[in-house]
Amino acid sequence: MGSGYTELFEEVDKLVDEFDVTAETLQAGVDLFIELAQKGLSGDSDEHGLPMIPTYVTSIPDGSEKGVLLAADLGGTNFRVCSVTLNGDHTFNLIQQKSPIPIDLMSGTSDELFSYLASKVVAFVKEHHEEETKSLDHKFKLGFTFSFPVDQTSLNSGSLMRWTKGFDIPDCVGKDVVALLQNHLDEQKCPVQVSALANDTVGTLLARSYTGSNKEGTTVIGCIFGTGTNGAYNEKLENIKKLDPAVVESLKKKGVTHMVINTEWGSFDNALKVLPTSKYDTIVDSLTSNKGFHMFEKRVSGMFLGEILRQILIDLHSRGLLLKQYSTYDSLPHRLRTPWDLSSEVLSLIEIDDSTKLKATELQLNQTLRLPTTPEERLAIQKLTRAVSRRSAYLAAIPIAALLTLTESFKGHHVEVDVGADGSVVEFYPGFRTMMRDAVALTQLGSKGERRLHINIAKDGSSVGAALCALSE
Ligand code: GLC
Repeated sequence: MGSGYTELFEEVDKLVDEFDVTAETLQAGVDLFIELAQKGLSGDSDEHGLPMIPTYVTSIPDGSEKGVLLAADLGGTNFRVCSVTLNGDHTFNLIQQKSPIPIDLMSGTSDELFSYLASKVVAFVKEHHEEETKSLDHKFKLGFTFSFPVDQTSLNSGSLMRWTKGFDIPDCVGKDVVALLQNHLDEQKCPVQVSALANDTVGTLLARSYTGSNKEGTTVIGCIFGTGTNGAYNEKLENIKKLDPAVVESLKKKGVTHMVINTEWGSFDNALKVLPTSKYDTIVDSLTSNKGFHMFEKRVSGMFLGEILRQILIDLHSRGLLLKQYSTYDSLPHRLRTPWDLSSEVLSLIEIDDSTKLKATELQLNQTLRLPTTPEERLAIQKLTRAVSRRSAYLAAIPIAALLTLTESFKGHHVEVDVGADGSVVEFYPGFRTMMRDAVALTQLGSKGERRLHINIAKDGSSVGAALCALSE
């Protein structure tokens, strides 16, 4: 190691320790999650509690569903329009068009955003279904995946509770997002009926159930680890105490026993009773538009991992430990000074770099941040990257273990359980799923539970699931 780096590595080791998540923290997290989930289901928590939103999805597909449906999927980074053909044999075909959401639309007005979304649906229908629309005497059914917390009042209506993942369009809060999309589609004379509204996690749960997870046990949870993080599961009607008793009665008369709950686990432990909080987490939260909310998400999901690391690097620089060639903050490369400019994709490349003197990391940092580094600095950055990602993957085990416990999913001999997951982090971040499993083994479920747990990628799950919702309407 070159001279002058002893202090840097001492500090890095301290941070690595600080970012370590112990079995004790994980177990306390599982207990707290169960407590907050039960409070959320009974309607006994304030706006900072765990939302536990009833979705009005009351049946889980078995793979025999058939039809051609449209799906529109507003995630955190992209908007996708697809047509989904459900073949009725656990398989589907999908045509999709994906467009990145323009940054300025994320903080403009709801009319600007929804008119843009509608125009993308119009273009898609024109390109792929023009002939059918001429001959059809009815409108196409569309399932709308809207991946933000929505207070749902029925399968096809719900008002936005608050924005997450960097969106900030105040006039949209409290409005029915289905009506917003429908109005703009009607204005643009698009022959499409928005017939279901689904969170991406609900879509993932349904899609994974459709594609036949049965080989590896029943699908209990649908979850996303991407720009944001969240999970949905199927809950017994009688446990959802906050549902209007009249609604419960009428559902029971129809033979309904369960309803899918969108937990919005991004907001787990907003009070920070168990979640580890470094000074960098506090700064990152202060940079967001939903301060004090989604505190779990801000430690776990893709949107935040790069920003946490960026804050650490800036801090180490300000203390004269790193990037010493830059004498002041203002002389640092512009991109390193720009919040949110360090993406989790870059972290994923640093994570697995085993080249001599971390040459691949050097290239990445040069290309993405215009940041030259010494081999020692790169080694420090790699250690820090691994600390941030490991903390994320370990914390990710908390809601999974808690929901499997809450639903008593492992009751009975030899029961195997399937969790359907989607999102860039769980799909592409090297080792994320393995680290998450290691952490599940440290929770109350132990290694026995971990061995019986299957975490599978539900590719395109959120869109396919919305189509399944639209079909059931
Ligand atoms: C955020 C949203 C949530 C969504 C998740 C994953 O947490 O609030 O609704 O499911 O991101 O996209």
